[in-house]
Amino acid sequence: MIERAQHLAAEARDAVHGASSTADLEEVRVRYLGRKAELPQMLRQVSQLPAEERGGAGQALNEARRAIESAVAGRAAELEEAELVARLERDRIDVTLPGDPVRELGRLHLITQTRREIEDVFLGLGFDVAEGPEVDLVHYNFDALNHAPGHPARAWTDTFYVSEDVVLRTHTSPVQIRAMEAAPPPLYVIVPGRVFRPDSDATHTPQFHQVEGLAVDEDVTLADLHGTLLAFARATFGDEREVRLRPHFFPFTEPSVEVDVSCFQCRGTGSVDGGRCPLCKGERWIEILGAGMVDPNVFGYVREYGYDPERIQGFAFGMGVERIAMLKHEVPDLRLFYDNDVRFLEQFG
Ligand code: DAH
Repeated sequence: MIERAQHLAAEARDAVHGASSTADLEEVRVRYLGRKAELPQMLRQVSQLPAEERGGAGQALNEARRAIESAVAGRAAELEEAELVARLERDRIDVTLPGDPVRELGRLHLITQTRREIEDVFLGLGFDVAEGPEVDLVHYNFDALNHAPGHPARAWTDTFYVSEDVVLRTHTSPVQIRAMEAAPPPLYVIVPGRVFRPDSDATHTPQFHQVEGLAVDEDVTLADLHGTLLAFARATFGDEREVRLRPHFFPFTEPSVEVDVSCFQCRGTGSVDGGRCPLCKGERWIEILGAGMVDPNVFGYVREYGYDPERIQGFAFGMGVERIAMLKHEVPDLRLFYDNDVRFLEQFG
């Protein structure tokens, strides 16, 4: 019995070392130490042995059992460690890998880019940037800008009225009055902002953007207006551009002009490759904005703020930001600016 126990212990130890997984090892353990295994059975029979044999047999069997148990425990620790390492290796996630797909960095909307470019030109010429409310009094939007009571732009169908004397501003010109109320001359400001009109087609949206300009000083002339707008046109459309002023009418300027820039597609020739220029339609000039000398009646509304029409003069101008952007980037439909289709937006900037 003692010899058999020692033999089993040696055999078990070999089997334990041969186990290649924890499952394998468990099988070996059951084979040698399980309830029906030979060694435990022998242990149970020790009590039936003659008294003089019991001590030696019991001791040998218990030693064999302990030897197998400790071999199993040692091998189990080794296998668990190896299996953990293998599992970690298999489940490895590289958290430093970039996300998929990589997100492209956004950019400014073309209207914002264009507004900023316009601002930069006038900041460089010494103008300040002012802003005013998008919902304004009829007084600022029409009355103080010398619009006669029956002026067509005042019609309920042409302007968004909030109440009888409050409107969504139809242009940025009302900020001319607000800027003059806020500071005495000399005054050089531009006013970028959102404006509203009930129109909607390929060249009109109910909401769009303008940049207003106002210069008030002593001895300001139409030649200063021309020079200022020439500098703007060249900075925006190219160094070789010219501008021309055509007589026009606006209620708040006298004289008033519409301002054209020489076509930058045909270089003012009217034709491209022997055919009619597609941009200016052969006209050689492209209208870019309205302007004029500030009407003395307008100064009359701000006389108490230091604007004496006998002493000072001013020029003013107003342009559409969308129009400038469309011309410069050949955008065919104004509504593209507001669809927010990234395939359109990502082409700029
Ligand atoms: N406010 C005019 C409009 O919205 C644009 C304009 C024309 C502004 C002439 C001016 C100007 O300051 O002098 O159509």
